[in-house]
Amino acid sequence: VELALVRDQITDAVEGFQSSKLIVAAVRMNLFPTLEEVPSTSSSLAYRLGLSERGTLGLLEGLMQMGLVTRNGDGIYAVPAEVAMCLGRGGHLSQWVKHQGTLYDLWEGLEQSARSGRPLLANTHDIDVPAYAWGLLEDYASSSPKLHEVVDLSGEIRVLDAGGGTGHYLIYAALANPSLVGVIFDKPEVAKIAVEAIKSFGLDSLGVVAGDLLVDPWPGLFDVILLANILHGKGEAGVRVLMDRAFGALREKGRLIIVEWQQGSSLRSALFNLTMLLCTEDGRVWPANSLEALAIITGFQKVEATMVNEDRYILVATK
Ligand SMILES: C[S@@+](CC[C@H](N)C(=O)[O-])C[C@H]1O[C@@H](n2cnc3c(N)ncnc32)[C@H](O)[C@@H]1O
Repeated sequence: VELALVRDQITDAVEGFQSSKLIVAAVRMNLFPTLEEVPSTSSSLAYRLGLSERGTLGLLEGLMQMGLVTRNGDGIYAVPAEVAMCLGRGGHLSQWVKHQGTLYDLWEGLEQSARSGRPLLANTHDIDVPAYAWGLLEDYASSSPKLHEVVDLSGEIRVLDAGGGTGHYLIYAALANPSLVGVIFDKPEVAKIAVEAIKSFGLDSLGVVAGDLLVDPWPGLFDVILLANILHGKGEAGVRVLMDRAFGALREKGRLIIVEWQQGSSLRSALFNLTMLLCTEDGRVWPANSLEALAIITGFQKVEATMVNEDRYILVATK
């Protein structure tokens, strides 16, 4: 029995790439929004998408087996409402799926990176940055709990979201607290997307600064500085610079808040660590106790990490 289980586990894992690729391909080819707009036969869909009839039928059959499309007695395919909410027009998961497609292609080079210990990318952002940035927003929008639900971000506070991506952590915190004033600081190619994201939520309490956190000056003094999912892109030297700079940009008693994957906690965390091998010079999933130690060395007090779910933690450190 055990051998059969192990066999199933291995085959599920090694064959799993096919399901992944099917969804990514369908999203890249705009299949879900097109079919959501007008449910249709396979050949009509093939015509509208400019695909082969054979290929379209194959895609639809696979997606139907996954429950992502339906077919009625007349051979008309459609997208169920819940799937449309994720992958249809205005779907809130499409960019995340596209980003997984980017990672899929990168993971092709896992053996090469494992041999050399070097990333495949010359620059971490040699990828489809809009899909990445909007995908991070989509992922956060559908996740819970939100940061402001587990850490006190109430009252009149000034918050810097360093490496904030589209600014999603502060967008949701600002929606919950109109007295919060925030700045999102990220690289220029991401910062311009943050401007769009903030505008789409109609928030004027959040601003954006474009630059390099390791090189450029940080914009003023803050009550709270957030480093969410950025330290895993850095080695120890980078982590130390960011912690030092955060310390310098905090008011007395200000708080540094770090959100990270916990090392050794789950398969997802271990796989994410490999993505950092593929994409970054010396990034890695950091265990909470290592970052706690580095925060104390930096001069922070009351340093404490708490797990928020099975594989993520929030570390709060006070100046
Ligand atoms: C994984 S994303 C995290 C986004 C968001 N904080 C979140 O938790 O979803 C890391 C972000 O840090 C930014 N970043 C990394 N190094 C940076 C640097 N040296 N200067 C500015 N931004 C940086 C990246 O551009 C990216 O948007």
